[in-house]
Amino acid sequence: MNKPIRKAVLPVAGLGTRFLPATKAVPKEMLTIVDRPIIQYVVDEARAAGIEHIVFVTGRNKQVIEDHFDMAYELEDTLRARNKVAALELLEKHRPQPGSTSFTRQQAPLGLGHAIWCARDIIGNDPFAILLPDMIIKSKVSCLKQMVDLYENVGGNIIAVEEVPEDETHNYGIVEIEEEINETAARISNMVEKPAPGTAPSNLMITGRYILQPEIFDLLGKHNKGAGDEIQLTDSMLALMKDQSFASLKFEGQSYDCGSKLGFLSANIAFGMDDPKLAQQLVPFMEDVIKQPLAAE
Ligand code: UTP
Repeated sequence: MNKPIRKAVLPVAGLGTRFLPATKAVPKEMLTIVDRPIIQYVVDEARAAGIEHIVFVTGRNKQVIEDHFDMAYELEDTLRARNKVAALELLEKHRPQPGSTSFTRQQAPLGLGHAIWCARDIIGNDPFAILLPDMIIKSKVSCLKQMVDLYENVGGNIIAVEEVPEDETHNYGIVEIEEEINETAARISNMVEKPAPGTAPSNLMITGRYILQPEIFDLLGKHNKGAGDEIQLTDSMLALMKDQSFASLKFEGQSYDCGSKLGFLSANIAFGMDDPKLAQQLVPFMEDVIKQPLAAE
């Protein structure tokens, strides 16, 4: 039987330079999609997949993330005194159980691979999930839950993938398929980071959700630098692929890269449209906006 996936790592130590100046004092993960910070969507996805413990790898200026997942005594007292039951219930619903979160610091932003390595002692010798918190996924069933379901059947390491148009593959990490397992899952034999146009081994991009075996930590611990002079997670996954199986899952759902302005705005519209009252006003507003002439370049 495959060991269950109980812990997840959320690396939140990046600098968020694409969103400056918004991210000068506010972490990128705390920017809001409709009425929740981006990171809340990702924590909710992990909890819906049965994750019992979340490890946040943070950096300087990220304390507010820890506060967000803590109890807000003064606020909750005031809400109670004012009988704001619905607001209190909302706070409670989104708050992880006491003791079910850990926070560790990546002392310098040396790359995603290094951030994950910083969680090694807390994860220990168990398989675990990684969720990149700037990617949020709108799906009927939690994307990570879909991956856990596949993992329970095939074990090993799992990577979530999504189809992208052929002429955009050079912007992403792309997997190479060895053999199909079923309609949505496949064994993978290679991964290529931003392949030159026309050379991509498939049109399946790596989406920021992983289930990995703990042996990845030994490989990350070599601290080998890769693209951008950073310690890359992909390089260690490629090394692990020599000894262990990797499968990809084409999950049901739509991802939004909230680390980019377009992804962030798209997510706000897509999740806003889920609220019937908001949608009723949002649609005529957008119809009106698209009639306006575009601002000059
Ligand atoms: P990104 O490549 O999106 O970098 O990191 P970033 O710093 O967050 O944002 P930009 O590109 O400067 O705008 C992908 C994920 O890896 C984490 C980030 O927090 C993000 O969740 N990360 C990256 C770390 O935790 N540490 C690092 O050293 C690098």
